[in-house]
Amino acid sequence: MAQINDVGGAIDAAVRLEEARLIEVRRDIHAHPELAFQETRTAGVVAGELARLGVPFRSGVGRTGVVGTIEGGRPGPTIVIRGDMDALPIGERTGLAFASRNAGLMHACGHDVHTATLLGVAAILKSLQPELSGRVRLLFQPAEEVLGGAAAMIEDGALDGVDLALGYHNHPEIPVGKFGFVRGANYAACDRFRLVVHGVSGHAAYPHAAVDPIVAAASLVGSLQTLVSRETGPLEACVVTVGAIHAGTVHNIIPDSCELLGTIRSLTLTVRLRAEAALRRICAGLEATYRTPCECDWIPGVPPTLNAEEVLDGSVAAIRRQLGEVFVPAESSMGAEDFALIAARVPSFVLRIGSGAPGRTDYLHNSDYQPDEGCIALGASALARAAVDLLAA
Ligand code: NI
Repeated sequence: MAQINDVGGAIDAAVRLEEARLIEVRRDIHAHPELAFQETRTAGVVAGELARLGVPFRSGVGRTGVVGTIEGGRPGPTIVIRGDMDALPIGERTGLAFASRNAGLMHACGHDVHTATLLGVAAILKSLQPELSGRVRLLFQPAEEVLGGAAAMIEDGALDGVDLALGYHNHPEIPVGKFGFVRGANYAACDRFRLVVHGVSGHAAYPHAAVDPIVAAASLVGSLQTLVSRETGPLEACVVTVGAIHAGTVHNIIPDSCELLGTIRSLTLTVRLRAEAALRRICAGLEATYRTPCECDWIPGVPPTLNAEEVLDGSVAAIRRQLGEVFVPAESSMGAEDFALIAARVPSFVLRIGSGAPGRTDYLHNSDYQPDEGCIALGASALARAAVDLLAA
């Protein structure tokens, strides 16, 4: 136990030493947000910090990603810790001194915080290098918001030889200083669809001489909700949202076609497959009812992000050893994460890091989102301790 106490103290000391620098780096990244696969400046900042810390790294992994490696002084497995770096196409309204200088772009999901947190993990684990078992691979991932960066990094070999992985996200509904975890599905599968209902255009006053795709599409929107209410068990989770409908030009013309764009979210493979089959069946049936053939493009996204029990249990126990009882109840989210692709390949755990500032209610993807920066040092301590203990187990 003496050794574990030493590790805890060393982590505390390393974090105290780095915290001001991590906040400075976070603010610099926040002021210069970059969209998916354009994170070249951010990757440059990461590379500079890793060089300062003496952590070997490789740039250009998954196009704009960076991979740092810390080789422990003792034999053991290889763990990946992944943080994402991209921003969103949202105009910032925080009025902060370090607000975005790139018009129309903002770190509204806190990936600036994630990048700084992973640099904190790098600093801590570098200081523990001789006592560390195995090796730590730090993935600074691009393009999470378009669900493309994880796949790109995996394609470039980022998971080769990896035994387990940790992911994390800041959660403003959890107060800073607290953490959350979910058994099973942490985030949902996210798939998209594009439907085109084909009719025959004509004069609005003579609908019988045309085939109206808008009436058929309106009925289709309602029918799609039966995927949730009639085809998914009441205790299972599924979301169907039609987010865009495009048809027509003016009030007195029935158009030729109507396009619908939407997303389906689910927490299990069974529900995911059933939803796809039902969507295709309902679309295929539209012609018999309304004389409107319906094209159905199912665009696969990511699977559910599944936590592996043993990695979750080991991480939660390690974080409690480091920070005490810091966990609050949490439940599965219908949001999606491309960390799911990592979790589908190696046993993984996603830690929810409380980032809610006292008195604030703004949420992720909001133009006024302001995470509490205290979450950076705390998140880095938690992740570092989890990695140390998992590698030594
Ligand atoms: Ni995010």
